[in-house]
Amino acid sequence: TKIFVPRDSAALAVGADDVAAALQREAAQRGLAIELVRNGSRGLFWLEPLVEVATPAGRIAYGPVAPEDVPALLDAGLLAGGAHALRQGATDDIPYLARQERLTFARMGITDPLSLADYEAHQGWAGLRRALALDGAAIVQEVTQSGLRGRGGAAFPAGIKWRTVQQTAAEQKYIVCNADEGDSGTYSDRMTLEGDPFMLIEGMAIAALAVGATRGYIYIRSEYPHAIATMQEAIRRASAAGFLGASICGSGHAFELEVRKGAGSYVCGEETAMLESIEGKRGVVRAKPPLPAIEGLFGQPTVINNVITFATAPLILARGAQFYRDYGMGRSHGTLPFQLAGNIKHGGLVEKAFGLTLRELLIDFGGGSASGRPIKAVQVGGPLGAYIPASQWDVPLDYEAYAAMGAVLGHGGIVVHDDTADMAQLARYAMEFCAIESCGKCTPCRIGSTRGVEVIDRIKADQQREQQVVLLRDLCDTMLHGSLCAMGGMTPYPVLSALNHYPQDFGLAAVQEA
Ligand code: NAI
Ligand code: SF4
Repeated sequence: TKIFVPRDSAALAVGADDVAAALQREAAQRGLAIELVRNGSRGLFWLEPLVEVATPAGRIAYGPVAPEDVPALLDAGLLAGGAHALRQGATDDIPYLARQERLTFARMGITDPLSLADYEAHQGWAGLRRALALDGAAIVQEVTQSGLRGRGGAAFPAGIKWRTVQQTAAEQKYIVCNADEGDSGTYSDRMTLEGDPFMLIEGMAIAALAVGATRGYIYIRSEYPHAIATMQEAIRRASAAGFLGASICGSGHAFELEVRKGAGSYVCGEETAMLESIEGKRGVVRAKPPLPAIEGLFGQPTVINNVITFATAPLILARGAQFYRDYGMGRSHGTLPFQLAGNIKHGGLVEKAFGLTLRELLIDFGGGSASGRPIKAVQVGGPLGAYIPASQWDVPLDYEAYAAMGAVLGHGGIVVHDDTADMAQLARYAMEFCAIESCGKCTPCRIGSTRGVEVIDRIKADQQREQQVVLLRDLCDTMLHGSLCAMGGMTPYPVLSALNHYPQDFGLAAVQEA
């Protein structure tokens, strides 16, 4: 009997290894034949460690399983999907999963992440094989047609970026995957690296064929040791099987891939600081232009995309641009893997087409706050994203709709706070975070963030409060328009949204929008 226990960090953090060991020990003692598969996570984090059993009626889920539950589970007939208090029914029928539109995450938790046979059996390499039959311009055309936009947060059309690199003549071109995923509450990149690494390799190989690049790097943050190890092993296996190397799939196209480890800097997720870091230099932001697409890594044309952007390419090539384009709304085509975190009852990964609302995510999927108290503020799009009050929860999750209200979808991270949150304190934290993580290259960010902390402290202490609020708005305006990159340029989003939507937390009577 096949039993699945995830190897994803979120499952390991709550004891998945101990559960796996207990299963093996107990099964051996009872003389039961089990085949233990360490799969990726299904993304239902409140049920981790989620143990699944393959039965003739499909996979049956049990969770959250502790090592001490294992004997009783086996007594209850775990191997046949028997009844037990932890039994969640057929995994695919759990409403949280059944209601999703899993395109990029279709294989997540289903396969053994490092099994090439499993990957192949679940539509793996179909996109790459189609790409091998096309020329570079046709691959770029397919990605452009799909409407795919950069999933790191900036939502720039991926096809246009690829075309720029494709059309720039050079001896050497590079593909760089940004897996620095520094945003608070986000983990869709990590889940992909740990749970479906061949999908990223396939996506990067497609990009390499499209633009004529022969070398690639995956820049992974050092805080992701399991992701780094899994990715390195996946690269070894894909190379040995001929999907990477001097001639991918015998096509004569070379593509070599390697992992580079970050060192704990948030700003190294900014693409040009990341390039500096890969080149072995200090992670300081470069001025743009030149764009990395024209002069990127080692001064050569470089495609830089987020993990999820590359990971979506295989599906687009395999199923066709129109298939992907038909999901979503407006100019936000396809799906986004939203990540529910913070004070939420059912935290986890929800892949849905653009156009659903925050309320659906928070209530229908998330089940409300974990504390049971009313939700007060939701930060969407990482530490540089705006706080969204309940009055805006019905706005569709769409890049343009969010931009119109001064917010961002970013990388799809959603961090929930209940009514005990002090929004002035969170605004102060945004400035402090910027002061700590600033690369120091430009003045509005380097100095503005420290002044921002001081101004908010004076507001909180009611020292000339009204004047200090005017000063804070002025400072935010300077950072917004004068910073070289998104670090200083977006820190005003959480600060101003806190001030505008929760003035009472700053000791102000009414909304004072500038
Ligand atoms: P950007 O808007 O400057 O650039 C977006 C991308 O498009 C870049 O790769 C840029 O080189 C490229 N590009 C722009 N014009 C182009 C052209 N004409 N031809 C070819 N390529 C072109 O945004 P940036 O500074 O790269 O990213 C900011 C975003 O990063 C924010 O919106 C934020 O949401 C996100 N972010 C994500 C984090 C994460 O953990 N995933 C962490 C922090 C920020
Ligand atoms: Fe560096 Fe901040 Fe300026 Fe970005 S905004 S270049 S992080 S100082």
